Amino acid sequence: MVRLLSPLHHVVVAALLLAACYAQPAHAQPAPAASPKAAGDPVRGEKLYEARCGGCHSLDANRIGPKHRGVVGRPAASIPDFMYSSALKKSKLVWTPANLDRWLMGPSRFVPGTRMAAFVSVPADRTDIIAYLASTTPPPPKK
Ligand code: HEC
Repeated sequence: MVRLLSPLHHVVVAALLLAACYAQPAHAQPAPAASPKAAGDPVRGEKLYEARCGGCHSLDANRIGPKHRGVVGRPAASIPDFMYSSALKKSKLVWTPANLDRWLMGPSRFVPGTRMAAFVSVPADRTDIIAYLASTTPPPPKK
């Protein structure tokens, strides 16, 4: 028969795990990501962006969709010379990584009436694409 572990046993295991974590030497810590704005791999994200978004978008020119440089942190529908749907104009969204993730999961579910019909179903792909978009934001001017 399998004997259920006592609560005390759990405490001991947790303490051992905790001790093991603290015992890690400092150099075993993972290096901080290149961009602190978003998790994910921007290098992989760039390839995905070109393959999945490049047919309609680019960083610096409006195409079927609006240009993207600096989109992370920007209010939705804020490129002045792009003709957005009224749905996106009225959305009052800001393109935080979390909102971009929901958007890329299914734009018309997130903003009914939008004209963007593409979506990305794999969560890691969305994260990497968002990391790439975040990496395109120019740093703020030094004061
Ligand atoms: C089939 C064409 C098409 C593809 C492919 C496409 N988009 Fe779009 N995208 C659009 C259109 C059109 C709009 C404008 C939507 C509107 O006005 O409702 C848009 C809008 C956006 C916006 C809002 C930008 C803003 O200024 O508010 C983001 C963010 C975006 N797309 C990201 C992506 C990403 C990331 C991909 C790749 C995974 C992608 N799109 C693929 C057509 C596309």
